[in-house]
Amino acid sequence: MLEVESLTVAYGGLRALTNVSIEVKTGELVCVVGPNGAGKSTLFKTISGTVLPRSGKVLFEGVDLSTVSAARRGHLGIAHVPEGREVFRSMSVMENLEMGAWAEAGRSRFAETLERVFSLFPVLAERRDQLAGTLSGGQQQMLAIGRGLASRPKLMMLDEPSMGLAPAVADTIFESISQLHREGEMAILLVEQRVAEAMEYSNRGYVLQTGEVILSGKFDELSKDDRIRRAYFGM
Ligand SMILES: Nc1ncnc2c1ncn2[C@@H]1O[C@H](COP(=O)(O)OP(=O)(O)OP(=O)(O)O)[C@@H](O)[C@H]1O
Ligand SMILES: [Mg+2]
Repeated sequence: MLEVESLTVAYGGLRALTNVSIEVKTGELVCVVGPNGAGKSTLFKTISGTVLPRSGKVLFEGVDLSTVSAARRGHLGIAHVPEGREVFRSMSVMENLEMGAWAEAGRSRFAETLERVFSLFPVLAERRDQLAGTLSGGQQQMLAIGRGLASRPKLMMLDEPSMGLAPAVADTIFESISQLHREGEMAILLVEQRVAEAMEYSNRGYVLQTGEVILSGKFDELSKDDRIRRAYFGM
């Protein structure tokens, strides 16, 4: 469904990604892990179209996205839940969800979306009229995911959803991601620094380091690699 081919991205003179290739198949949950500054968020921004590559391309359902705007990519079925959540703080929970439903598929299925989001995150139903800026970090993350779901995406990209959350809250978020994956309605591409959890839930993963994919594969294979064991499991 998603093919990223030899992507090279630079900010001015600084190379953020070099020849990065990844693939996500229909219904898969794929994880991208790597240290700070590795280029994980840049990869997501290039896929969603807010950053343009210097070379290489992104194909979505066989369509080359090179000349497709970020907004259009949303209509095609790509949702990007950004790092740091970025909910609209002065809008209510409901208004945030409505903002997510701007795409054609999102508008026509909004009632269904609300049911899905509120059953996944009951606390959002209780707080539907509360301003998003007054929610806890975990609740804001739930809302950011809900807003992503509201566009009825075929591919949802989640950038460090557990960032800054207490372990128990992060577990709730991972559980909900896992449930969305099991429902099988969309593919999920996840960036995570909590590698052990990411490994538990994902089908496959890529390890990004200073802008390059240094390893990829099923996690039971990755976890045998000495570099991964040293970097992420303290072995
Ligand atoms: N808008 C920008 N302008 C200039 N350089 C940038 C910009 N955004 C990111 N960079 C640089 O590009 C590199 C990759 O950044 P990116 O945010 O993609 O990494 P990351 O893997 O998401 O890191 P983190 O784990 O901290 O979120 C870093 O060296 C970063 O400083
Ligand atoms: Mg990042």
